[in-house]
Amino acid sequence: MTAHPNLILSGMQPTNTLHLGNYLGALKNWVKLQDEMPCLYCVVDMHAITQDTGYRHPKELAAATREVTAAYIAAGVDPGRSILFNQSQVPEHAELAWIFNCVGRLGWLDRMTQFKEKTGKHKERASVGLYTYPLLMAADILVYKATHVPVGEDQRQHLELSRDIAQKFNSDYDLPDFFPLPEPVIVGTGTRVMSLRDGTKKMSKSDESDYSRINLTDDVDTIAQKIRKARTDPNPLPENGKGFEGRPEAENLVNIYAALSDTSRGDVLAKFGGRQFSEFKNELAELAVAKLTPIAAEMRRLLTDPAEIDRILANGAERARGIAAPIMTEVKQVIGFVG
Ligand code: TYM
Repeated sequence: MTAHPNLILSGMQPTNTLHLGNYLGALKNWVKLQDEMPCLYCVVDMHAITQDTGYRHPKELAAATREVTAAYIAAGVDPGRSILFNQSQVPEHAELAWIFNCVGRLGWLDRMTQFKEKTGKHKERASVGLYTYPLLMAADILVYKATHVPVGEDQRQHLELSRDIAQKFNSDYDLPDFFPLPEPVIVGTGTRVMSLRDGTKKMSKSDESDYSRINLTDDVDTIAQKIRKARTDPNPLPENGKGFEGRPEAENLVNIYAALSDTSRGDVLAKFGGRQFSEFKNELAELAVAKLTPIAAEMRRLLTDPAEIDRILANGAERARGIAAPIMTEVKQVIGFVG
């Protein structure tokens, strides 16, 4: 098999404000990966319209797209080095997604747990776009022949589907090397940040309780208060990882501390094992404030000049199209589209 050159692609939906899970599970790793390979980072505004919660108003979607762009830059994504753009400005994503609608199988999509979680009992009321969402995600990645995709744990199944799509396309057209099989990059203790109210549920933008998550834009007092109120149990911190048995909230806070401080869980337990949660929470709040509030301040500064953000996105889209357009031409030839 010929190796495809290393290339990163990842994205986030502009729905509500980004939270600590988005930061630790994805964004923080994106910043580091810029030193390792070329990167494309996308604001997936076309995915954001698959659910109508909150996006009946065009101004809200546009504002959220600019806010997520500002968050990428404020966290350290360098738009000079990396290609930063919004999905809807690169029409090749939608074009390839249609082709993948014809490559993907209903049975594959029926197995997607996120669709089931998002629709619950009301599958028939969901948009068709929400159902085929993972095929647009596969197109986001493969329209650049990207090889690595840094995401949180919850995207693993979608990435497996992207690999299945790449493999089926390659084998249907008897071109075993055409698309790379993209590798998930899921690293560190922040890949599955849980709700601060319930350690068995993922921290999520859609949770009704704002106390379940820390938003990137929360101020010092809000962050401290949310951590103070985070659910724990009456026991002190365990001495080692075995002591997390049946204590998901305790485990979550320790994982968050480790991810924020770039240390291991073992290091955190060596320092805090046997101490009370009240003490640990004070230190965690201090650390979270130190890491997150400079990002929020930089986001606020960037958002005072939306025209500059739009220029960055337009420039990124042009560079992204420079990669995607020739690949799309190749795809059309492979399929037999005339023109
Ligand atoms: P989205 O917008 O839901 O989330 C963006 C990123 O944040 C990660 N994440 C978490 N990580 C750890 N703990 C959590 N509680 C948590 N919540 C979210 C997600 O894993 C993700 O990496 N389908 C994608 C967006 C997408 C995409 C792509 C990603 C569209 N096309 C192509 C990669 C490549 C999504 O909805 O992510």
